[in-house]
Amino acid sequence: MENPARTAQYLELMETRRRDLRACHAQILAPQARFTWEIGSGHGHFLAAYAQAHPTELCIGIDIIGERIERALRKRDRATLSNLHFVHAEARLFLETLPDDATFSRLFILFPDPWPKLRHHKHRIMQSDFLASVAARAGEGARLYFRTDFTPYYDDTKAVLSDHANWDVIPEGAEPWPFEHETVFQARAPSYHSLIARSKQPATTPPIIRAQ
Ligand SMILES: C[S@@+](CC[C@H](N)C(=O)[O-])C[C@H]1O[C@@H](n2cnc3c(N)ncnc32)[C@H](O)[C@@H]1O
Repeated sequence: MENPARTAQYLELMETRRRDLRACHAQILAPQARFTWEIGSGHGHFLAAYAQAHPTELCIGIDIIGERIERALRKRDRATLSNLHFVHAEARLFLETLPDDATFSRLFILFPDPWPKLRHHKHRIMQSDFLASVAARAGEGARLYFRTDFTPYYDDTKAVLSDHANWDVIPEGAEPWPFEHETVFQARAPSYHSLIARSKQPATTPPIIRAQ
């Protein structure tokens, strides 16, 4: 049964998070900013190396686990990378609070949680509605780079993107993976699959998904 006091507390917490994220975006993103984005950046190994190799790109990594963001920020500070930011945020909330004129040029989603059980598939991030919202923030020619060691997740993601109104899957081998740096989960994986998708332009108006 619903507890009205707890629901009100939860809604208030979400509003606080939205306000904090908007303030964070305002600090990081200049007007009409274009950025390179990583969802589920973990301890920041990949994006720190990427940002070092691409000093002119603004790079933003997000993760829902605060302790991972803290470690990633320490890595960023040790390397004194002024073009790199790590933000403690859930992906849908991050998208929902982005300024209207901010777009990404590259999005990396590397070894996302696979949620192998059928009844847990709803928790996967590579879902059609989420990918539509992501596409609405894709700048011209933007690419999505997805990598996983869980073959059924790769197959499902390829099927979702292939049928998607906002994305084209780039044929295997037609484009190089833009930057290699082993992630923590990649180091543990005996093998993995990679997929590149291109956003269709212009993106259709996205459905407004409010994060729960
Ligand atoms: C399996 S780990 C992979 C970490 C890193 N990409 C790697 O390859 O080592 C998945 C990461 O995604 C984060 N994550 C899961 N769902 C998320 C979401 N909705 N928004 C942001 N981060 C999320 C988790 O906290 C975790 O750090």
